[in-house]
Amino acid sequence: MLLKPRHVGVLIGSLRHGSLSRKLAKALIARAPATLDCHIIEIGDLPLYNQDLDSSPPPAWVSFRTELEACDALLFVTPEYNRPMPGCLKNATDVGSRPEGTSLFDGLPAAVVSVSPYSLGGFGANHALRQSFVYLNLAVMQQPEAYIGNVSDVMNAHGAITKKETDDFLKTFMQAFERWTSTAQTAAEDFDTFLARREQISSEYIQGKAAPLIAISTASDPATFFPPNGNPVVGAEKVNAANTMSAKIFGKGSVGRFEVFQSGSSGGLGFWTGIQHADMVMEGKEERLTMQLRTTEVFRIEQGEWKLVHRHADMGNVK
Ligand code: FNR
Repeated sequence: MLLKPRHVGVLIGSLRHGSLSRKLAKALIARAPATLDCHIIEIGDLPLYNQDLDSSPPPAWVSFRTELEACDALLFVTPEYNRPMPGCLKNATDVGSRPEGTSLFDGLPAAVVSVSPYSLGGFGANHALRQSFVYLNLAVMQQPEAYIGNVSDVMNAHGAITKKETDDFLKTFMQAFERWTSTAQTAAEDFDTFLARREQISSEYIQGKAAPLIAISTASDPATFFPPNGNPVVGAEKVNAANTMSAKIFGKGSVGRFEVFQSGSSGGLGFWTGIQHADMVMEGKEERLTMQLRTTEVFRIEQGEWKLVHRHADMGNVK
């Protein structure tokens, strides 16, 4: 199994059948790198946001929120109505941001493309959206900006892009957005807090409990484990099976700690390197085993959670 493409929800600020914005959205989707799985989320059936309905939300709100919840990133493609964004798009952002404290936008990477048959390219709508993104805490890509003006001159009636410069720009934009979706990924837990939890999970592992480790391990490839015996385990399924099996040799009463030499996180990745100290009880045996493993672990953010994707453990001292 390969690493899943990031799920990008595309919100379009026009409901009309022949919408130029929808055509442009489809042109962007067609130019997305394979690591982005883009799909349009429809917003035309959302009842107008009304706080009184929060206790019993209309089914269309519920399914819209479910679709948003599954997204790793959002792409907004919108025309301009009397300078800001059309009401349908404002309504969609309101519905997705409520009830208070449950906003589905918090921290999500996003990008905005505005569209107009006129020369200003929907600049006002583009920036009105960006203004509300400040409060929604959407991590919106700054560059390149996309104001697609005179849009009828760059596509034919079927939405095929007829101008090479526009074609090139749309490709460049989607490539930049792909990079942004990985750079701007955030995890619910900051890396240092996660690392403290990882240390705790390591202690549980050497007491025979594999489940907490499996819960923070990726289920998607690429994933690798280079164990002390020198035989690499490749692939998430095999790594998790090996870890589940190995935990059985440990018994209650083991204790362990991490001596971290270096650690850090950036762009959706995190690592630590150092010594894993363990004073272990082996299941069914009397004697204790003291071990120091020279360890490096690499983690990546998947759907807002840190996941172990690589572990390299060399045998240090064993007593
Ligand atoms: C517009 N239009 C428009 N265009 C623009 O560039 N700036 C604007 O402020 C407005 N204002 C505006 C208000 C309203 C109510 C309508 C209906 C239209 C024109 C608009 O860009 C044009 O109709 C686009 O074709 C709308 O986008 P779709 O529906 O083709 O995606």
